[in-house]
Amino acid sequence: MSHSIKFWAVVPAAGVGKRMNADRPKQYLELAGKTVIEHTLLRLLNADVFAAIAVAISEEDPYWPELEVSAHEKIITASGGKERADSVLSALKSIRAIASDTDWVLVHDAARPCITATDIQHLIASLVNDEVGGILALSSHDTLKNVQGDSIVGTLDRRHIWRALTPQMFRYDLLRNALETAEGNQAITDEASALELQGLQPKIVEGRPDNIKITRPEDLALAQFYMEHQHD
Ligand code: CTP
Ligand code: MG
Repeated sequence: MSHSIKFWAVVPAAGVGKRMNADRPKQYLELAGKTVIEHTLLRLLNADVFAAIAVAISEEDPYWPELEVSAHEKIITASGGKERADSVLSALKSIRAIASDTDWVLVHDAARPCITATDIQHLIASLVNDEVGGILALSSHDTLKNVQGDSIVGTLDRRHIWRALTPQMFRYDLLRNALETAEGNQAITDEASALELQGLQPKIVEGRPDNIKITRPEDLALAQFYMEHQHD
C-alpha cells in the first residue's frame, strides 16, 4: 500500500539579526500588530498544506515560549544551530520519525513574513513532479557588475543571474543527506547550494517580489507596506 506524499515546512528562526541592530532578534520585532515570526508562521499555517511546521529556535531564546503560536498543534520546536544550515538540519531531524524519505520539505526563513499562499501553491504546483526540487527566485532588473576593489572588471549576463528566495522545496532524504554532507561548509547559505554541491541542479520558480527578507531596519516599513497592499 503506498502512502500519500506529505508536505512539511521547516522554518529556521535561530539567528540573532546582527544587521538589524535591534534590542532583540529581528523575528521578534513588531510589524503590523504581530511579531515578524508570527506573521510568517500564521501564513504557513493558513496555506493549509503542511502536515507540521518544524521551527528551529535558539536555546537562549526567551521570546519564543511567550508566543501563542509556539503551542499550536502543528508547530514543532527544534533547537537552532551555529549557522542557518545547522538550524535547518536540526529541524529536519526533529521530524525524522514522522516524515517519509520521499515527502517534500519547504524551508522558509522566519525573516520572510510577507510570504503568500499563492507563492507557496505556485512553488508546489511547479515542482511536485520534479526529481530534485527547487526554489523561489527573482530575476534581476538592475545591470550587475563584477567588481574588484572599487573598480568594475566586467558586466554579468543578467539572463543567467537570479536571486534566491525561500521557500526552497526538496525531498526529505535528499535535503538531509545534502546538508549532512555539507556540514561545516561556510559556502552553504541556502538549501539549493547544498544540493548543487552534490552535483544536482535544482529548479528555479519565479516568485513574487513582495516576499522580502527582513535584513536591515528599513525593511520593516517596506514589509508593512507590502502587507497593506497584499490581497492574496
Ligand atoms: N537562522 C537560523 N540559525 C542561524 C542563523 C540564521 O535559524 N544560526 C535563520 C534566521 O533566524 C533567519 C534565516 O535563518 O530566519 C535567514 O538568516 P538571516 O537573514 O541571515 O538572519 P540572521 O542570521 O538572524 O541575521 P544576520 O545575518 O543579520 O545576523
Ligand atoms: Mg545571518
